[in-house]
Amino acid sequence: MWDRFPVIKAELAAFEDYLKSRLSSRIEFLDIASKGVVLSGGKRLRPAFTIIAALHGDYNRERVFPAAAAVEILHAATLIHDDIIDNAKTRRGQMTLSEKHNINLAVYTGDYLFAKSLRLLVDTGLKPEKLNVLARTISIICECEIDQYIGKYDIGTVKNYLKRIIGKTGMLFSASLILGAKTANLSDDVARLFGRFGNSFGAAFQIRDDLLDILSDQKTEGKPVLNDLKEGIATLPIIISASKNPELREMVNDFFDGNGGDINQLIQAVISSGGIKDSEKLKNRYVQKCKSYIEQMPKTPYTDALNEIVDWL
Ligand code: IPE
Ligand code: IPE
Ligand code: MG
Ligand code: MG
Repeated sequence: MWDRFPVIKAELAAFEDYLKSRLSSRIEFLDIASKGVVLSGGKRLRPAFTIIAALHGDYNRERVFPAAAAVEILHAATLIHDDIIDNAKTRRGQMTLSEKHNINLAVYTGDYLFAKSLRLLVDTGLKPEKLNVLARTISIICECEIDQYIGKYDIGTVKNYLKRIIGKTGMLFSASLILGAKTANLSDDVARLFGRFGNSFGAAFQIRDDLLDILSDQKTEGKPVLNDLKEGIATLPIIISASKNPELREMVNDFFDGNGGDINQLIQAVISSGGIKDSEKLKNRYVQKCKSYIEQMPKTPYTDALNEIVDWL
């Protein structure tokens, strides 16, 4: 993805070494588990955003890398906890911690990584009031994951879905960019612009992830598919189809009630009613928002890297 941007590629390679160096623990289990999770082949999108935002200002690895590591380790912690509440047995093509060991160890490994993430923030040298962004992000991710859990087996509304995905996914992308901007002494206005971009990127990214849960396969994704429906979570294509078609709403409710119905038949009905196409349209609205934020950013040789990531969505 970074072939056109050798500077970003080089920074990400150096960041990888830094990240590894920050993951050791005196406790053997935590040492192996933290490295196992964080170094298991994530795309590193959030640290890439931190680095790209910082490249727009006074770039200093010593401040940027701790911020980028803080967001990636926080991301890993949220995935461990997310896989517990989603009952997911695989992630990045490997067994999840709770599957490999048990939930108890997974919960505490997640907590340990949360703490590590906050500890790394200290090394950014940012003033405490500028660090608030990550604490707020953690609260909002927890609120939205709980909101989703409590709302299981309820189809819900597009409005609530969008609020939820911006909270659970957009906020962390937003914080990754804002922290990068702040470590590079960029103005509050520019940091805010990066933040808005992050929220819209996160919304499009989560809609894409929810579409792949329906349209892709476990081998490609490295994590279970059709898991959202099986777990009673109605994602955008389901919500849209159910709002257009009362019969389909009944089918989804029957499925959620455990009154059978073949999941593949349900998916076919969602496709026929335009639920996938409409979700793609909404995703593209967020993609367009991202593009308009990019237009407003101060131009550097790295700004176009943001366009490249957005085009991948
Ligand atoms: C997965 O995020 C969780 C969601 C927000 C959908 P990523 O797709 O960025 O996860 P990795 O780090 O690349 O595995
Ligand atoms: C993303 O939601 C999880 C967080 C943002 C914490 P999902 O549950 O859809 O992510 P995947 O599909 O498991 O990666
Ligand atoms: Mg999940
Ligand atoms: Mg998902």
